[in-house]
Amino acid sequence: MKVRFAAQRPKGSYALALPVRGEDMLSDRLAGLDEAGRRLAARAAEAQRFEREAASVVETFVAEGETARRLLLVGLGGKKDEEAIFERAGGALVARLLTSGETRLVVDLGGLGLDSSAAARLGFGAAARSWRHDAYRTKLGRKQKPTLEEVVIVGGGEGAEAEWRRHSALLEGLAFTRTLVAEPANVIYPESFVERCRAAMDGLGVEFTVLDEKRMAELGMGALLGVGQGSARPPRLLAMRWNGAGDAGSKPLVLIGKGVTFDTGGISIKPALGMEAMKWDMGGAGAVAGTILALATRKAKANVVGICTLAENMPDGNAQRPGDVVTSMSGQTIEVINTDAEGRLVLCDAMTWAQREYKPQLMIDLATLTGAMIISLGHEYAGLFSNDDGLAADLTEAGNSSGDRLWRLPMGDAYDKLMDSPIADMKNSGPREGGSITAACFLGRFVEEGVKWAHLDIAGMVWADKASHLYDKGATGFGVALLERYVAANHEL
Ligand code: BES
Ligand code: MN
Ligand code: ZN
Repeated sequence: MKVRFAAQRPKGSYALALPVRGEDMLSDRLAGLDEAGRRLAARAAEAQRFEREAASVVETFVAEGETARRLLLVGLGGKKDEEAIFERAGGALVARLLTSGETRLVVDLGGLGLDSSAAARLGFGAAARSWRHDAYRTKLGRKQKPTLEEVVIVGGGEGAEAEWRRHSALLEGLAFTRTLVAEPANVIYPESFVERCRAAMDGLGVEFTVLDEKRMAELGMGALLGVGQGSARPPRLLAMRWNGAGDAGSKPLVLIGKGVTFDTGGISIKPALGMEAMKWDMGGAGAVAGTILALATRKAKANVVGICTLAENMPDGNAQRPGDVVTSMSGQTIEVINTDAEGRLVLCDAMTWAQREYKPQLMIDLATLTGAMIISLGHEYAGLFSNDDGLAADLTEAGNSSGDRLWRLPMGDAYDKLMDSPIADMKNSGPREGGSITAACFLGRFVEEGVKWAHLDIAGMVWADKASHLYDKGATGFGVALLERYVAANHEL
């Protein structure tokens, strides 16, 4: 689906959408319609109890010469409504119209006195909501097929086009992440994940480094290798370096994503019911890859390295056992109590490698790390853990403005000591209580002196069982907008 910006409404047929804020006079917003149209629209709004709630939509038809035009009113909420309202409004309109039979939507912002970023953000929400993964659906019915081809945003002001460049780069990244997440594990495994990234970023100037098992063994990555050893698909560690600020920039910001391309649990095997969901246990790595793609596409003036720690967690004659002790690259030993707590094992070696290789000022990891995260925050916020209040605040802010929201949870010695092991330096799994926090504490043991670090547990966020404003059921692309916004606000020259 295409998005474009225009000063005037186009000619020809289209559905028309008029955004309405809580404080607007409805008659002002309907001023472009004729007398009969205004009356009809006002009556439709009243009859459908339209109170301009954020991203609420009502629909009617108004006469337009010989034919009738579909008219939608979309609520922008009140003054205090969240920052991401324009994305949500654009998404809500597309959700209505995507398979409606309409081929073109015109959204008229004229008269609202908005700045150009509102138009770009509305376009972003519209395009994000139109994404689908129909690659394997060979029998889609006529009414299930998308019809909407174009969204034209009118009256967004002069700068909309320029603002759009950033958003369209973000959309590229978001779509890439969603595709990686949606693809099944027989298609996306460590090696094919790397190849997909190479293909997506070809020619953009992103520098790739890929470590195979042999190199990992030389480096002493016993924790990561232990997770991969039960699988026929060998693990990989992928680093994508975007040096957009060049030498003028500071040391790179490092992003690390958990990329378990399938998590059976290993010998501590998961129950069969719902196990297919574990194809998206690489959502952290997917978000990191999409972020690098977005940043490189718009040539962001920042130095960022995206690291994906890729492995498949399978039970097998060669798989690691509960009770095994592995030595991580940091030298610290780990007793593997539960082979299903594999995310922290693949992350810890990637963290050590990243710190030695890039000497980062700051390191952020994203991981579908614990089921406990979903128990505590549901599907509204990802968990945020950090050793630095400033970093936590900046990430929270980027979360609020992007719509990928974060909620900070505590860490500390009392939790940390729950990860001590009687036989090794630590164990990989603690008590059930506070499971997301002890997982974060485990990772914290691999953060080197002076490095600012944040861990985002995105277990509840990468996949949605029901549609929302910016996505249909399925892969959400969580984290891409967040990280892109965070980099833009805090790390660009
Ligand atoms: N990938 C899972 C976490 C997960 C579960 C994400 C459900 C999304 C939905 C992770 O590898 C895992 O299995 N964690 C265990 C840790 C436990 C064994 C300490 C969990 O949460 O049960
Ligand atoms: Mn697991
Ligand atoms: Zn996992």
